[in-house]
Amino acid sequence: MTDRVRGRARLDGRLIALGVTGSIAAYKAVELLRLLAAEGADVVVLLSPSAARFVGPLTFEALSRHPVETELMELLPDGRIGHIVIADTADAVVVAPATAHWLGAMANGLAGDVVTAACLATSAPVIVAPAMDGDMWTHPATQSNVARLRDAFGYAIVAPESGPLASGQSGIGRLAELPAIVEAVVARLSGTAVRQPDAAARPPLAPTAPRDADLTGRHVVVTAGGTREPIDPVRFIGNRSTGKMGVAIAEAALNRGARVTLIAADVSVALPEDRARVVRVETTGELRGALLDALFGGAGSPATARFDALVMAAAVSDFAPVRPAGRKLVRSEGLNLELEATPDLLAEVARIAHGLDAAGDETRAPVAPRPFLVGFAAETGSLDRAADKLRAKGVDLLVANDVAEAGSGFGTDTNRVVILSAYGASEGLPLLPKREVADRLLDRVAAALDARDAAGQTAGMQEVSR
Ligand SMILES: Cc1cc2nc3c(=O)[nH]c(=O)nc-3n(C[C@H](O)[C@H](O)[C@H](O)COP(=O)(O)O)c2cc1C
Repeated sequence: MTDRVRGRARLDGRLIALGVTGSIAAYKAVELLRLLAAEGADVVVLLSPSAARFVGPLTFEALSRHPVETELMELLPDGRIGHIVIADTADAVVVAPATAHWLGAMANGLAGDVVTAACLATSAPVIVAPAMDGDMWTHPATQSNVARLRDAFGYAIVAPESGPLASGQSGIGRLAELPAIVEAVVARLSGTAVRQPDAAARPPLAPTAPRDADLTGRHVVVTAGGTREPIDPVRFIGNRSTGKMGVAIAEAALNRGARVTLIAADVSVALPEDRARVVRVETTGELRGALLDALFGGAGSPATARFDALVMAAAVSDFAPVRPAGRKLVRSEGLNLELEATPDLLAEVARIAHGLDAAGDETRAPVAPRPFLVGFAAETGSLDRAADKLRAKGVDLLVANDVAEAGSGFGTDTNRVVILSAYGASEGLPLLPKREVADRLLDRVAAALDARDAAGQTAGMQEVSR
């Protein structure tokens, strides 16, 4: 299993500021951004004015999903100063490629562009990868500037390499290999905590294009909130789920044109009762009943599915008291609680949908049209179990998150998840508002349902690669 599948890529949760200056190698910064993102980093890009003439901000914005910082004298839409927000929240600043001019400006503390300004303003580690003509690199001015950055400022210098240069000559000055720059960033950050996990404090996200009504005509069933298993008439076994993630998914699906059934257990957020069909439940048993009813018109062996996609975001209790007391228990009697495992609702739904019996044997044709099933796996610490869960439950996607992590999980407005797919590709998303996580998930659901319809209802579900 790769680190990415485990959800523990080496820059998971980090905000990396990528400063690009006006070298012919600026195009390589695009690939560097992708490598940093592949390690789990949330990347925000700063461009010097010359760099913006080599590679336009649009490419960086589309890939980083953050507006690119180019203008020192412009404020963010919310009034904050962009390069200061980046300086204050980034885990590291990487300047690659760094020009001879930029090294000179930086060595002298001249904050004339957003890259130098951010470096001057940050207490985060700075990693610099110079790139230039060979004679520019060996010039004493450049060498003394590099030495000052390294020795006086403590910056990590990823030295340029020898090889053919843009001038047509050969010599030392080529930007270091990109993996070497990534390794330098990883090494600098190893053993340190994520500096600012709160997405609201970080640089803003680029406004996302409003999603199309790509779920029009689809019936999406979403479960949200935490179940409560009664111990007696006043006490229960519950969990910390607030329903924020599930409700965000229901609202996002509604906005994309879906007909939504929201089965809500205990929640502490407002429900879209005017736009969705909302079914309130309390226990795992009630949730099971409501779910089977919404999906298949009740228990039994249905031939058709009444839904297109199910997103099981509810936190379902794994255990329930065997014999809930009919009257309030009193302290003097003591209490010895016997618990039993509750049914695995997602696995049961998947079995029914795939035409399998309780033993996993195929007893009839899968329900048609084939629905798309998404589960959530709340873990603490390692996400290693998530890939096993994906297979064991027989779902199409499993959204795994570490609920013990700052800014992620119960009650927060943000979440950092890894989306594991039964079709191979898994994707680790950066820390994002739950509504954005919902939309990224629904991007996949909508694409998979379109592929299902295009392939005909008997063909296997293919998830569309994005
Ligand atoms: C085609 C072209 C390629 C260049 N490549 C480099 C380069 O690789 N390294 C460098 O230090 N300067 C290079 N320069 C010069 C810089 O663009 C110039 O010094 C500029 O002022 C740098 O601004 P900045 O450091 O603010 O980005 C190049 C210029 C041109 C026209």
